[in-house]
Amino acid sequence: MRLLLTPLSAAHLTVAAKAATTEILALLGSGCHRRLIGDSDSAPIRRQSRFSGAVPHYLNMTTKLAPTVRLNNGKEIPVLGLGTWKSKPGEVTEAVKAAIDAGYRHIDGAHVYENEKEVGEGIKAKIEEGVVKREDLFITSKLWNAYHKPELVVGACKRTLADLGLDYLDLYLVHWPMAFKEGQGLFPMDKDGKMLFSDADYLDTWKAMEECVQMGLVKSIGVSNFNSEQLARLLAVAKIKPVTNQIEVHPCLNQSKLISYCKERDILVTAYSPFASPDRPWAKPTDPSLLDDPVIKAIADKYKKSNAHVILRYLIQRGTVPIPKSVTPSRIRSNIEIFDFELTPEDIKVLDGLDCNGRICPFNEAKESKDWPFNIEF
Ligand SMILES: NC(=O)c1ccc[n+]([C@@H]2O[C@H](COP(=O)([O-])OP(=O)(O)OC[C@H]3O[C@@H](n4cnc5c(N)ncnc54)[C@H](OP(=O)(O)O)[C@@H]3O)[C@@H](O)[C@H]2O)c1
Ligand SMILES: *[C@@H]1O[C@H](CO)[C@@H](O)[C@H](O)[C@H]1NC(C)=O
Ligand SMILES: *[C@@H]1O[C@H](CO)[C@@H](O)[C@H](O)[C@H]1NC(C)=O
Repeated sequence: MRLLLTPLSAAHLTVAAKAATTEILALLGSGCHRRLIGDSDSAPIRRQSRFSGAVPHYLNMTTKLAPTVRLNNGKEIPVLGLGTWKSKPGEVTEAVKAAIDAGYRHIDGAHVYENEKEVGEGIKAKIEEGVVKREDLFITSKLWNAYHKPELVVGACKRTLADLGLDYLDLYLVHWPMAFKEGQGLFPMDKDGKMLFSDADYLDTWKAMEECVQMGLVKSIGVSNFNSEQLARLLAVAKIKPVTNQIEVHPCLNQSKLISYCKERDILVTAYSPFASPDRPWAKPTDPSLLDDPVIKAIADKYKKSNAHVILRYLIQRGTVPIPKSVTPSRIRSNIEIFDFELTPEDIKVLDGLDCNGRICPFNEAKESKDWPFNIEF
């Protein structure tokens, strides 16, 4: 029973939602193939491959970049990114700057996080300082559920670009398969607090996502929170294949079946909430914490590393791309210090044993949607 996380109930969400402002509401909604050191059946990982040859002048000898991995369209994504859900507008600019200084080149954002302007300010500052060029960065955003009608997609994408102050995104994701009623804010609800849905079909949404690529607004497109049946339905008609499925993965929710499904179809899995999101608005003080877990700690001690390091390393060695969130510069710098050690197969086996079906981001408020993804096993 160790590590059991209480599954999020609709009641939790409602309580959290009521107790909070739209800012918190936004938070609720947020809610394969490669060689990783030790995984021999895939393509080689590339260290600093965004730069040809020598270390660029602005990187001193201590700045290490995360390696990249190749997506199914030939583009590359750094295997570690900075998450920005729940990062307050007043702190996320500094977080993005600290991350870029520390060697992060991949930032994960979304319209619904309501902080894209401030994320963009951090990016702009580091480009202006000459620390990075735009093409060195991999910037992801997500289409929110209330903009699934095909005629709304390009506009939503342009709004995100304007907020970020960018002229293209590296990756744009369909945030969730469910479509919300249009024109009534981010979380449209009736007077009893029941979520209102739209009849938009994500297959039609996808056609408009493809248009974003054709228009040059985004380099790659993908999905998030799609189950295997939804992926199959999409793959049957997609002209442009999704490069990734961004899903919740951590030691307490190992997702082995959905990861294999994606890997077999050359779809990279991006691992969200790698630490099981200790700052999720509905967390209870008694919920167990992966970052203090004694089994993970025993492995961490062997390498003189932290639980966070072991978890990130575990996710990368399993072939996923974790996107840990932090607004604390020391943690941001620490979380990228994972490319100087390797977990053994025995360590991995121990970590595999921690699964407790602990989904912390089930989005139960949207359970009534026909496209809510968690009604089947994977
Ligand atoms: N597609 C989706 O539907 C979806 C859903 C959820 C999340 N995401 C993405 O995934 C990202 C990560 O997930 P998440 O934000 O839910 O949670 P997470 O990354 O699992 O955990 C974030 C929490 O861990 C703390 N933390 C970070 N590094 C730490 C360290 N080294 N030691 C101790 N504590 C540490 C952070 O604290 P401080 O910030 O205070 O330092 C924060 O409280 C999100 O930000 C978002 O970009 C996507
Ligand atoms: C190198 O850059 C890192 C990250 O920006 C910084 O923390 C460190 O102090 C720098 N070291 C030197 C010798 O300038
Ligand atoms: C994942 O967890 C399940 C139990 O939920 C377990 O049977 C399986 O061995 C685990 N697999 C991996 C690869 O972690």
